[in-house]
Amino acid sequence: MSQAKPNETIGIKGLNIETSNCYSTEHDVLLANCDVIEFLKTVPSETFQLIVTSPPYNIGKPYEKRQEFVDYLNWQKSIIKECVRTLKKGGSLCWEVGNYIENGEVFPLDVFFYDIIKDQADMHLRNRIIWTFEHGLHASKRLSGRYETILWFSKGDEYKFNLDNIRVPQKYPGKTYYKGPNRGKPSANPKGKNPGDIWKVFYEDWETLVWDIPNVKANHPEKTIHPAQYPIELIERLVVALTDPGDVVFDPFMGVGSTLLAASIHGRRAVGVDKEKQYVDISLERLNKLQNGALKYRPLGTKKYIPSGKEKVARIPEQWMNSNEGNQRILA
Ligand SMILES: C[S@@+](CC[C@H](N)C(=O)[O-])C[C@H]1O[C@@H](n2cnc3c(N)ncnc32)[C@H](O)[C@@H]1O
Repeated sequence: MSQAKPNETIGIKGLNIETSNCYSTEHDVLLANCDVIEFLKTVPSETFQLIVTSPPYNIGKPYEKRQEFVDYLNWQKSIIKECVRTLKKGGSLCWEVGNYIENGEVFPLDVFFYDIIKDQADMHLRNRIIWTFEHGLHASKRLSGRYETILWFSKGDEYKFNLDNIRVPQKYPGKTYYKGPNRGKPSANPKGKNPGDIWKVFYEDWETLVWDIPNVKANHPEKTIHPAQYPIELIERLVVALTDPGDVVFDPFMGVGSTLLAASIHGRRAVGVDKEKQYVDISLERLNKLQNGALKYRPLGTKKYIPSGKEKVARIPEQWMNSNEGNQRILA
């Protein structure tokens, strides 16, 4: 795996992309611009192999109206109920969430969503994945939030899980058995190891990308105007682990289409809904770029950027050196 280059692009030719507010099967990618419940009413039961999304968190982002927390949870419950109906037996539902904040108090959404999803028939939690990142808002009255969670539920006890598709390199491939009949033989799995449930492989430099040194760029190549976009790579892992080529992946709150891109890159069919036309338009634009080989993205498994210490942004400002303020100087 090599470090991603600043202008890494990808293309998937011949995608059949459609926009319609009714579900149909004649497409590789279907985008709907309406309320998610309206769209879900058009979807037959047991259609999707994977439903993956990051819903609004009720925190007053431009695309949402804050509601009483209990009303918000009831609204989400009505959507989850429909999602579970449209999910295939053996399929997976992944709800990616952070915190709801009220008067400075933190309400971890996954705690509430666990009960809502578990309440649906035959839904079983398989992992609570921690997605951790180094950038974000700096809190002043509590610790800065540096992770979100993905609740991965399967519908039924028999479910698709392609572990080999997401194995990561062994840390110590040269380890050997020290006793028994295999003594001296390699003990590690040559296909790699299970990546575990803490995902830190991307996003390190999402907000302050430093690929184009010394021209520091403030934006990740995938970023659009959407205020709560997740990286394609986060969803690629779920797509390749939980579906096979040809399966249908659905995102009920698709934003600018990151899930649809992740699914299309790996030959899965993709369906997404967003109520905001501007986000649907950007999704379409990004999908067209993918078709034309012009989509800038950070490929799955790309090593994070590690500053060498020589870059201007990694150096301690001279002003700090000459003052007694701040730990940074003391730690340096
Ligand atoms: C957290 S964002 C998802 C961002 C997405 N994961 C991405 O990478 O672009 C939630 C999205 O849900 C959409 N949304 C909110 N309420 C909706 C509704 N009732 N029906 C459809 N979409 C809705 C918003 O417009 C917003 O784009």
